[in-house]
Amino acid sequence: MNFGNGQYQAIKKIYAEKIAPATIIEMIEASGLRGRGGAGFPTGKKWRLLAQAPGTEKFVVCNGDEGDPGAFMDRAIMEQFPHTILEAMRIAGYAVGAQKGVIYVRAEYPEAVANLQTAIDQAHRDGNLGQDFDVVIRLGAGAYVCGEETALLNSVMGERGEPHPRPPYPTESGLYGKPTMINNVETLANIPNIILNGPENFKNTKIFAVSGAVQKSGLVEVPLGTTIAELVYQYCGGAKPGHTIKAVQIGGPSGGCIPASLFDTPLDYDSIKAVGAILGSGGLIVLDETTCMVDFAKFFVKFSADESCGKCTPCRVGTKKLEAVLEKITKGKGTTEDLIQIQTLGQQIMDTSLCGLGQSSPTPVLSALKYFGDEFAAHLRGECPAGVCFHGYYITDKCVGCDLCAQKCPVGAIEGAPKTKHHIDPLVCVKCGLCAKTCPVHAITGGNDENND
Ligand SMILES: Cc1cc2nc3c(=O)[nH]c(=O)nc-3n(C[C@H](O)[C@H](O)[C@H](O)COP(=O)(O)O)c2cc1C
Repeated sequence: MNFGNGQYQAIKKIYAEKIAPATIIEMIEASGLRGRGGAGFPTGKKWRLLAQAPGTEKFVVCNGDEGDPGAFMDRAIMEQFPHTILEAMRIAGYAVGAQKGVIYVRAEYPEAVANLQTAIDQAHRDGNLGQDFDVVIRLGAGAYVCGEETALLNSVMGERGEPHPRPPYPTESGLYGKPTMINNVETLANIPNIILNGPENFKNTKIFAVSGAVQKSGLVEVPLGTTIAELVYQYCGGAKPGHTIKAVQIGGPSGGCIPASLFDTPLDYDSIKAVGAILGSGGLIVLDETTCMVDFAKFFVKFSADESCGKCTPCRVGTKKLEAVLEKITKGKGTTEDLIQIQTLGQQIMDTSLCGLGQSSPTPVLSALKYFGDEFAAHLRGECPAGVCFHGYYITDKCVGCDLCAQKCPVGAIEGAPKTKHHIDPLVCVKCGLCAKTCPVHAITGGNDENND
């Protein structure tokens, strides 16, 4: 991350070289920059729409809500490069004809809020803000949906943070009914560099917040088009010792999982969409064999159900229903019909929800079902390959059929032919755990009492 900070060189260049607003927009278009907030909308095109919108009162809004679990790149930018965001907003204001800016920042980021406020005060003192363009901070209302642009605008205006259908888009009718341009923090942070160094030198990098089952987690900035394999193995050190990476989850609650067999997929908006996920804002969680894909999908569906604002029925009721089906499966009570229902209900929620929260909420479970259908099928048989669900023990494919566990089992719950995979009868098992302790190849997992009914 090298966004510069506090120099306001790009805006000085604009005034010194008398670069026209239309030229600025052409530069942003030529750079190929696309919105880093999730949807990947071409930034220059959005700026052009606002510049062409009628009226003299317009707003520029910076979206710093960052509610995706697993995403923390905007936080780093707001904390470390607050002046860059202010400079970018001022450039945007100059290019589109807006005089007022609002930064909507997640209230749970107190350091980002403090640093942004200090930067605004310094910019006023130094004459970098407050004349032709000014910026104020509004604190996020603590709901994931408030990151959605129409809900965000309602929240800024002191209304309930609920979305409304688009059109009208904010570029037509946004804050107080005026044309409004909303850009993500990282999108904006790229603007001064594009102006200073020219669009032809823009490397189109993206910051990923990598976490989970990987040796080196943290923020990694790579050019768009870098493959998942390069990011996970080359830059993040690959799996933790003794483990095997099986997938990544990209895009948070709106995104999906991508199996290791597709790790040669380039990290760009269209390629990731083609394999059933979204690049999203850049949260990337690495998963190894200790993660149960059904349980993991349930986490995200539950997140969306909890965060649904409740305004539209498909999202309010549908996500809860989807969560209940997944809960049933992770309790070992799922049926084949449940898997069909996940698909039909998921599709209905996607097709009929009002905003992006509902529309994308089934993606985590649909992609998990697509690529890890065998794990769902195992749950229908009462087995959790990762040993996360159910309260009993489960013998994995590592079993060499040595029979030691069966010999130790005090209640005779384990059976299997020599040298073939053994099986534990969950109805007989008393969950003493002796089998797992005995197994010489660590093939027995489970015993997680937290999952008890
Ligand atoms: C449920 C939901 C949550 C969102 N949260 C954020 C967020 O935290 N930050 C963000 O920049 N965009 C978020 N977005 C996307 C915004 O609606 C909007 O597309 C984005 O701020 C536009 O900026 P960009 O063009 O620079 O990407 C969210 C969208 C949805 C549907």
